[in-house]
Amino acid sequence: MAREYVPIIDYYGIESPVATEMRRLLHNLRKREVQPELKSILLTSATTGEGKSTVSALLAITAARKGFRTLLIDCDLRRPMLHRLFALDRQHGLTEALSDGIQIKTVIRKTALENLDVVTAGAVTPHPTEVFDAKAIGAMVNEQKFYYDYVFCDSPPVIPVSDPMLLAQEVDGALLVVKAGATPREIVIRAKGILTSNQNNLIGVVLNNVKGTLPYYYDYSHYHYDYSIKPGDKNESDRQKSGAPRGRPDSWGASSEPGPSANHKKQMRR
Ligand SMILES: Nc1ncnc2c1ncn2[C@@H]1O[C@H](COP(=O)(O)OP(=O)(O)OP(=O)(O)O)[C@@H](O)[C@H]1O
Ligand SMILES: [Mg+2]
Repeated sequence: MAREYVPIIDYYGIESPVATEMRRLLHNLRKREVQPELKSILLTSATTGEGKSTVSALLAITAARKGFRTLLIDCDLRRPMLHRLFALDRQHGLTEALSDGIQIKTVIRKTALENLDVVTAGAVTPHPTEVFDAKAIGAMVNEQKFYYDYVFCDSPPVIPVSDPMLLAQEVDGALLVVKAGATPREIVIRAKGILTSNQNNLIGVVLNNVKGTLPYYYDYSHYHYDYSIKPGDKNESDRQKSGAPRGRPDSWGASSEPGPSANHKKQMRR
């Protein structure tokens, strides 16, 4: 199943506009590095489907290609995506490290990129809220900062789920991915408010653009959306059955700075 997906690494064109944007984003992260160092970074968004997982994966690939030892952790136990993007089996991963008391180093997977390792979300859990432990994940992330230059954490959206707000306090900085031209301003402001309410380590916003789709609030009734996906749920099986693998979008565009972001249809492909 997961192995039917083509790893996103295979679609990463080093000369593509999106790769250029990712290098710009990485440069901006490094430019604003302060003491203590910005090594662990959480990616979240206001609500679903804004491109957190895609941007996390592309940013991690970019860092790895630049020669940085990079670890990417799927901290979204509800709608995990990184195992698909990297064509890995979902198990074993973060869930096992959290619930079975096994060391995170035993669930770290190698990828085709020498400097990039991934921790998948692990087994489907019917109670992600109970399994998710921000302090424990924070401790794992801090431990891995010794071995890696960057630890990126993909996470759920911050408005429907409290996990990213809690985890944001355990990492060096949080990036808010915003679906450009789609996420209403007041929703973004609310997300920013949640992320900055306890400890302000929101380090920036990534504008992500999805070409040719209707505003996503036609797809998700995000105010009332039940974010938790349980094993066997219709939404989860629909998602697994749906058309092209989600690691193979037709177009990607991302911008690390405010402003109109370009659409780059099929430019990711070599
Ligand atoms: N810039 C883009 N251009 C085209 N498609 C994109 C872009 N960014 C993301 N996508 C596509 O949009 C969909 C949602 O992206 P992704 O899974 O990364 O979002 P997410 O915020 O992680 O979603 P979730 O809230 O479910 O975790 C995917 O099918 C992905 O391939
Ligand atoms: Mg995701």
